[in-house]
Amino acid sequence: MAIHRKSLRAILGLITLSTLLTMGPLGVSAGNGQDATPPYRDASLSVDERVDDLLQRMTLEEKAGQMFHSQLNMGPDGTLDQGVPGTRNNTDFMLGTQMLTHFNLVGEILDARQTAEFVNRVQQHILDTTRLGIPLTLSTDPRHAFTENIGTGFRAGRFSQWPETLGLAALRDAKLVRRFAEVARAEYLAVGIRAALHPQVDLTTEPRWARISGTFGEDADLTAEMLSAYILGLQGETFGPGSIATVTKHFPGGGPMENGEDSHFAYGKNQTYPGKNLEYHLIPFKAAIAVGARQMMPYYSRPIGTEYDPVGFGFNKGIVTGLLREELGFDGVVVTDWGLITDANILGQDMPHLTELERAAMVIEAGCDQFGGETRPELIVQLVKEGIVAESRLDVSIRRLLREKFLLGLFDNPFVDADAADQIVGRQEYVDEGAAAQRRAYTLLTNHDDVLPLKDTANKKFYIEGFNATCLERRDLTAPFEPRSGGFESRYHAGSLEYSAQERERQAAIYTAVPTVVDMTMDRPAAVPEVAENAAALLANFGSGPDAFLDVVLGVAAPEGKLPFDMPRSMEAVEAQMEDVPFDTVDPVFKFGHGLRYKAAA
Ligand SMILES: *[C@@H]1O[C@H](CO)[C@@H](O)[C@H](O)[C@H]1NC(C)=O
Ligand SMILES: *[C@@H]1O[C@H](CO)[C@@H](O)[C@H](O)[C@H]1NC(C)=O
Ligand SMILES: *[C@@H]1O[C@H](CO)[C@@H](O)[C@H](O)[C@H]1NC(C)=O
Repeated sequence: MAIHRKSLRAILGLITLSTLLTMGPLGVSAGNGQDATPPYRDASLSVDERVDDLLQRMTLEEKAGQMFHSQLNMGPDGTLDQGVPGTRNNTDFMLGTQMLTHFNLVGEILDARQTAEFVNRVQQHILDTTRLGIPLTLSTDPRHAFTENIGTGFRAGRFSQWPETLGLAALRDAKLVRRFAEVARAEYLAVGIRAALHPQVDLTTEPRWARISGTFGEDADLTAEMLSAYILGLQGETFGPGSIATVTKHFPGGGPMENGEDSHFAYGKNQTYPGKNLEYHLIPFKAAIAVGARQMMPYYSRPIGTEYDPVGFGFNKGIVTGLLREELGFDGVVVTDWGLITDANILGQDMPHLTELERAAMVIEAGCDQFGGETRPELIVQLVKEGIVAESRLDVSIRRLLREKFLLGLFDNPFVDADAADQIVGRQEYVDEGAAAQRRAYTLLTNHDDVLPLKDTANKKFYIEGFNATCLERRDLTAPFEPRSGGFESRYHAGSLEYSAQERERQAAIYTAVPTVVDMTMDRPAAVPEVAENAAALLANFGSGPDAFLDVVLGVAAPEGKLPFDMPRSMEAVEAQMEDVPFDTVDPVFKFGHGLRYKAAA
């Protein structure tokens, strides 16, 4: 019976398909195979039926390819990247030989049409040159704010530009977060991006950690509320062809880093729980699962002082299978953080006693479905051929991964409309909403004698340091940090939260000479009581352009933010805090929720 029904549907599918093909570029052929209309291409069948059909057609090599999720570079003028010997393989090799179909797009997007055309080119290349024509799923790190760091996000470029997520949290406005995520969804969809390597929902209970600016701050309940709106905005109420799949990270909460170091780096692997407070860090993940989060990413760290084995989370069966899948009931895709097998430039996990093959086996054994930032399908093939991993174990992961592609509608239409992309990405309405959010998210920490907003500006002189248009654009009085060496490492602001004695002295001279307005980019909770005391006003921004700054200072717009974390008094206080416990800094200069308002105009 079932077989008859399927073949009938296959014939119907053929009719639909030929209709589509006459429509030109939107037509989808079956890939380079013999069978023109296999059931997996039949949109009238259920996703399960389509997954079953496709899975039984796949070779071991084709399955192994699905288990990798690596970077995709766009070549010049939107062509396929030719690769760089020793640095990255060319796109044709990764698609055709390694049979990879999941990638994150790297690099700032300045031309939406060209990006859309590039994505269409890749999709067409897959259909023309691969046996099964399994469509590309393109993902991205955040691209709607100011951070520019290949490891964490890209500057907005042509996309609408908003404050970092910390700024969204400062506004305590779930509706705004939902709207932000819907705008991000529209702009992603327009260029063919279908998965977001975010939200980042780690709780910032350790203020020195270098990855705070991509989070929603220190409070679990606020984070849970914000991330729920964020996920619903990107995925929609039901997950389908208009959705962006979200990857919630970093399970089980990457905030409690020992001494505030980061586990990208060998010296920063320990995630530590002196306050026995792991449960608190799970609150956001439970909220994410409750709203239907599709995918999760474990962090690089290893847990210290918990009941779990102290091995990296991506390798950790107790964490991935025990805690995430069995206890919290998550059945979606688990993709590891980037680079757990190969000791590449961006070193993932420091596990020198294991071979690459052993690491790959351990990640699969832990219960992960996909390797981020790796292109080593041959290792998976070897693991199966040597009987170390059963092919049926791969099938569990492949089913999850293929389901995403079918649900996203990628098999039915992998292409985007490049003309529409040009209209949608960076649409004025979106840009205006992002600009308004940048202004509102400003958090006014002090305002001595109500110096802000500046009044009577026509009759006053201003001392503005190092001022020209470029400086105003850069305007980089960042919260304090200690520069680290190394190309990748130097992009992470780590170490002391106090300014050096020399810098404090330099600033003191300015504060004494003139009433000074300080606009600090608060990518971590700075310990700056001297600025609060001596500057005429202290503003925290969480990502803002020069116009937003001027509008707030001049009173064209008003700051509405409330701090998403406590701001500690000193490094001594920071060192006395427990990494995993929120709001335990002694005598903070400003508490979570602090944020002054402008006096209503007289
Ligand atoms: C290119 O692919 C080969 C074969 O999988 C792999 O061993 C190698 O690491 C890749 N090269 C780069 C630079 O990623
Ligand atoms: C991490 O924790 C382990 C176990 O407590 C300890 O031996 C090690 O020194 C800690 N620090 C680093 C950087 O590994
Ligand atoms: C502005 O200042 C920056 C930093 O000092 C300098 O590199 C740049 O050339 C200046 N631009 C103009 C237009 O003067």
